[in-house]
Amino acid sequence: MAKVDALAGSRRSKSGWEKGGRPVQRESVRAPDQTWEDELTLQDKPAISLEHVSRRFVIDGRQVTVLDDVSFEVPAHGITAVLGPNGSGKSTLLRLVAGLLTPDSGTIEIGGERVADADQRVGLVFQEPRLLPWRTAIDNVAFPLELAGVSRAERRERATALLDLVGLSAFARAYPQQLSGGMRQRAAIARALARDPQILLLDEPFSALDALTRERFNAELLEIWQRTGTTILIVTHSIAEACFLADEVVVLTARPGRVAARVPVPLGRPRRDDTLDSAAFSRAAATIRAHLSGSPADIAAQEAAAAPVSDVLERAGAPAWFDPFGGPG
Ligand SMILES: Nc1ncnc2c1ncn2[C@@H]1O[C@H](COP(=O)(O)OP(=O)(O)O)[C@@H](O)[C@H]1O
Ligand SMILES: [Mg+2]
Repeated sequence: MAKVDALAGSRRSKSGWEKGGRPVQRESVRAPDQTWEDELTLQDKPAISLEHVSRRFVIDGRQVTVLDDVSFEVPAHGITAVLGPNGSGKSTLLRLVAGLLTPDSGTIEIGGERVADADQRVGLVFQEPRLLPWRTAIDNVAFPLELAGVSRAERRERATALLDLVGLSAFARAYPQQLSGGMRQRAAIARALARDPQILLLDEPFSALDALTRERFNAELLEIWQRTGTTILIVTHSIAEACFLADEVVVLTARPGRVAARVPVPLGRPRRDDTLDSAAFSRAAATIRAHLSGSPADIAAQEAAAAPVSDVLERAGAPAWFDPFGGPG
């Protein structure tokens, strides 16, 4: 536990591992004449903002628009999920936010600043873990720190804390081929967090896992999110996963990917297994499903079908402060 707390604290402290060539994040948004109070205001800005973002690729000799006029924000410390058909540009979207691609038009900002080339404020997790097979788990997690020139002792300390955070302490010395698929993905998440990113981008990170493991990973991801305070943008194919994790779900149309809908998920936190059974959850899921299938009639029908049930259940499952005998106010 102490290790995890140390990890959370290190975000704010100027502790050793922050020195190694890594720009200190908070200072990058603070002008010399700004006070700490100003800085707090800056941090309240949307963590990620996309405005009118479009991107084309040349496919089979033709210019094809993959993302078309995409705009949305992810508030600081929030979780947004992106859902859309195959080829709707979801991975492209994440690569744009990570600064691995540039938009053809529109702007992408993190904390009010344009995204830079391979932006260091971002950690990225892919569908497949992409670990280096010749390195142990701990050395894979420490790899980004090594690239940043962090000293050996600091790398070790940081990677140990991260392995602890993702529940992989006992496997620090194991090589990727000795780990299960789920463990490898834990290691990949730890590696993405190595440089204390403000933003964590996840591209269908759990889609190779079986359903039960996946549910557990979702709960664990929320714990990691709470402890690290990152802002999360996650691409998923699972409506349930999107609703369980996110504050808002951005539904993309088939290619070219446009924002078909931004569906809020009005569920409290922390979220638990029984969150999946709540009426608000079902309603959000039904709305998303309708937007994915695309027909306005479907959307209206699904929303109408979901509404009456939810009103009753919402009360039954109301949180502790709900007083069934009290009037309004
Ligand atoms: N670097 C690239 N060059 C050419 N085409 C690409 C490139 N990256 C993606 N595409 C194309 O863009 C479309 C969207 O891809 P992608 O963002 O991977 O979609 P998704 O993740 O939603 O399945 C696909 O048709 C894909 O072939
Ligand atoms: Mg993809």
